[in-house]
Amino acid sequence: MKTAALSREKQQARREIFAGVMSGTSLDGVDAVLAEFTSGAVCTLLAFVHVGFPAELRRELMKLQAASEGEIPRAARAANALADLYAQALRSACAAARIAAADIVAAGVHGQTVRHRPDEGWTLQINNPARVAERAQVCVVADFRARDIAAGGQGAPLVPAFHAAMFAAADRHRVVVNVGGIANVTDLPPDGNVHGFDTGPGNVLLDLWCARQRGLAFDDHGAWAASGIADSKLLAALLDEPYFAAPPPKSTGRDLFNAPWLDRALSVVPGMRRAEDVQATLVALTARTLANAVRAHCAGAVEMLVCGGGASNAALMAAIARELPRLRIGPTDAAGVASGHVEALAFAWLAREAIAGRPGNVPAVTGASGPRVLGAIYPR
Ligand SMILES: Nc1ncnc2c1ncn2[C@@H]1O[C@H](COP(=O)(O)OP(=O)(O)OP(=O)(O)O)[C@@H](O)[C@H]1O
Ligand SMILES: [Mg+2]
Repeated sequence: MKTAALSREKQQARREIFAGVMSGTSLDGVDAVLAEFTSGAVCTLLAFVHVGFPAELRRELMKLQAASEGEIPRAARAANALADLYAQALRSACAAARIAAADIVAAGVHGQTVRHRPDEGWTLQINNPARVAERAQVCVVADFRARDIAAGGQGAPLVPAFHAAMFAAADRHRVVVNVGGIANVTDLPPDGNVHGFDTGPGNVLLDLWCARQRGLAFDDHGAWAASGIADSKLLAALLDEPYFAAPPPKSTGRDLFNAPWLDRALSVVPGMRRAEDVQATLVALTARTLANAVRAHCAGAVEMLVCGGGASNAALMAAIARELPRLRIGPTDAAGVASGHVEALAFAWLAREAIAGRPGNVPAVTGASGPRVLGAIYPR
């Protein structure tokens, strides 16, 4: 028995299976991955699961993005509902990969951002990691951003360290762009000096306008946007936002890029306009702000790898390509990782770094005063 237990332990140590659970600013649901790591970020994907938010939870998470009555107990209840969904996603991933929860070293569980105020020294990802550990019977690593903020950083973006470990190439200057609710860029020059920051809205305004005008969660493949024409005056009004010109380190969220922000810009440029033209303009905004970031901060890049849901928006991908004609642009799939898996994999990797006691932040990205081990550990 003892020998069997020991050899099982050895096998576990060798296998290094980690889980990553991500629910991002788009509020589209939960992505979970199971991956087996060998060295560095080299890993084999064992399972990917997406669980959409039940409509009521999504509505509540959306409401919790801004101050509202009774928000403290409501946030706590939503955190429990989220934890149950995270645990469900983990169990489904285990079933899909035919892996016992006990074989997972740890799960990196990001939580759901409801406020991000690094300028005031705090950020809030609602979650109940103890409940996830209890329900899924795994060790959970959570609250990844707090330590970096405590060290003077933005606490975001955290994916650049993983992007570097996964996609940096010695023979070419790459940039990795994640187009989630918010978009962020990681600069990966061959000399290994990683930089990165949030560029501004990714899908958040596209989804918002599409939901308002058409009652749809998102503009599938950007077909609706492609039927419109970008309005240069409205685009100029949208670009007239100090965040875009501010130097990095910087990070943002729905605290800034939300419905009132969009409505203000729309009111500055009065006149009749077609809804699809606004959608086309919002695509142009995401593409332009990404391209401006690359032009200003990633000089010499020759290749752009795109991940996140925005990689599936053909209108957006075409707009980015028009902005940056000299770059080779395509989804991360070409570099070996499906564009929809990157963020969740990043949190599996960050959990691995935390368990190993290695720093997960890139101070040059977040502005923290130094490397820090990220996350709080909730044992199995
Ligand atoms: N087929 C598609 N066509 C157009 N857009 C899509 C498609 N699939 C996904 N998207 C967009 O991608 C979004 C989800 O992207 P993703 O899951 O990467 O974002 P996220 O969860 O907010 O993550 P992040 O933490 O990076 O903000 C959707 O809300 C939608 O806007
Ligand atoms: Mg998502």
